[in-house]
Amino acid sequence: MKILVIGSGGREHALVWKLAQSRRVSEILCAPGNAGIAAEAASASGKPVETVPINADDLPGLLKLALREKAELTVVGPDNPLALGIVDLFQGQRLRIWGPTKKAAQFESSKVFSQEFMNRHKIPSPRSEAFENPEAAVAFARSLGGRCAVKADGLALGKGVILCCNEEEAARAIQQIMVAKAFGEAGRRLVIQEFLEGLEVSLHALCDGRVARLFPTAQDHKRIFDGDEGPNTGGMGAYSPTPFVSQDDLEAIQRAILDPWVAGCQAEGIDFRGVLYPGIMLTPRGPKVIEFNARFGDPEAQVYITRLENDLLDLLEACLDGTLAKLELRWAPHVSVCVVLASEGYPGSYAKGRVIRGLAEAGALDRVKVFHAGTGRQGDQVVTQGGRVLGVTAWGSDLAATRDLAYRAADRIHFEGAQCRRDIGMKALNILRETNSKLW
Ligand code: AMP
Ligand code: GLY
Repeated sequence: MKILVIGSGGREHALVWKLAQSRRVSEILCAPGNAGIAAEAASASGKPVETVPINADDLPGLLKLALREKAELTVVGPDNPLALGIVDLFQGQRLRIWGPTKKAAQFESSKVFSQEFMNRHKIPSPRSEAFENPEAAVAFARSLGGRCAVKADGLALGKGVILCCNEEEAARAIQQIMVAKAFGEAGRRLVIQEFLEGLEVSLHALCDGRVARLFPTAQDHKRIFDGDEGPNTGGMGAYSPTPFVSQDDLEAIQRAILDPWVAGCQAEGIDFRGVLYPGIMLTPRGPKVIEFNARFGDPEAQVYITRLENDLLDLLEACLDGTLAKLELRWAPHVSVCVVLASEGYPGSYAKGRVIRGLAEAGALDRVKVFHAGTGRQGDQVVTQGGRVLGVTAWGSDLAATRDLAYRAADRIHFEGAQCRRDIGMKALNILRETNSKLW
């Protein structure tokens, strides 16, 4: 089968790497891809992956490419093309494409839609309301004592959420988003949620419009600095599984969150085929959904994919065919850890074009895969091209040793100004040490 993958991050590299291992995949195209993706080859045919310089939000360009190349399946990585309706566009041309339609992608592209859906279907989430009017928003924030999350309705490059500790901060955040339009039209409406304390974990579930099948848990590290300090990023590292959610907890989450979500989608005629990625806060009053995404997380995908034992193509096709219930998802009983190497200045403006050395030395370690994110080629050198540059991923039977392995690999890689967190997975390791337990 000939497959087109859309996107250029570490998540897409992980998807391409796994699809390239499928016996049924003979050719892979990726738009726009990166230097690491371009170095992969379909193992069934030996054909190198072809990267095509068309951006993930250039829908007409991508459609032309898929038609010209006769792609038999297109796999969408990032949120933007989904929100723009790439799935509807391709389906209209009778092309097979994996990912939610524009309507279904609203779970991510509209926080108002998502919150109102959760309220309608009694999915546990923070106390919250949606607003189009700043005065009413300020009044609600005041009723929460000012401790709240103020969220622009639309996509805002992951920056549209402002956490507030008091009424003044909340009023300023509402002013910034709604009146000063700091995130443009994305802030025409907003959601205000009560501020929840707790541990945050990532869940993922594959959906075929009928059932939602949960993955094991993972945890991202969103802040730029160790100890969860500094501004939010796209994600500086992840690991799976986490020790914070037991198998029993997962079953309870399936019943309290996923089952009503599927039933709600069916009742409202929302045909979601793809991955639902709820961000969950574990609170003393149970797990609560703080947001939904409608795609794989990045860097969560890197740790999930290195644990997945199924042929990824089988899973993607089962979503499209409505046959997920018949499939058994198989996960290697090991832990995966991904450490992100980022550019100097990230998540603010960052340098580009820095030469990356040591990739081969890092990749030569057993049980390590270096996924590329923001990389490109300049002659025969690989250079930095994005904020998050690489996702150094290791797997093994034990969290402490696997963390060490991931950092040993990361330390073999050098580029000027490289930054990474040194504490990926530390919260979990501390809990495991305190309780003298293992991850499974
Ligand atoms: P979101 O994009 O909605 O996931 O928000 C970005 C980050 O803000 C999350 O990863 C959380 O760390 C934090 N956050 C979002 N909503 C809340 C909330 N209601 N209470 C506390 N923290 C939150
Ligand atoms: N890991 C954060 C995200 O993918 O949104």
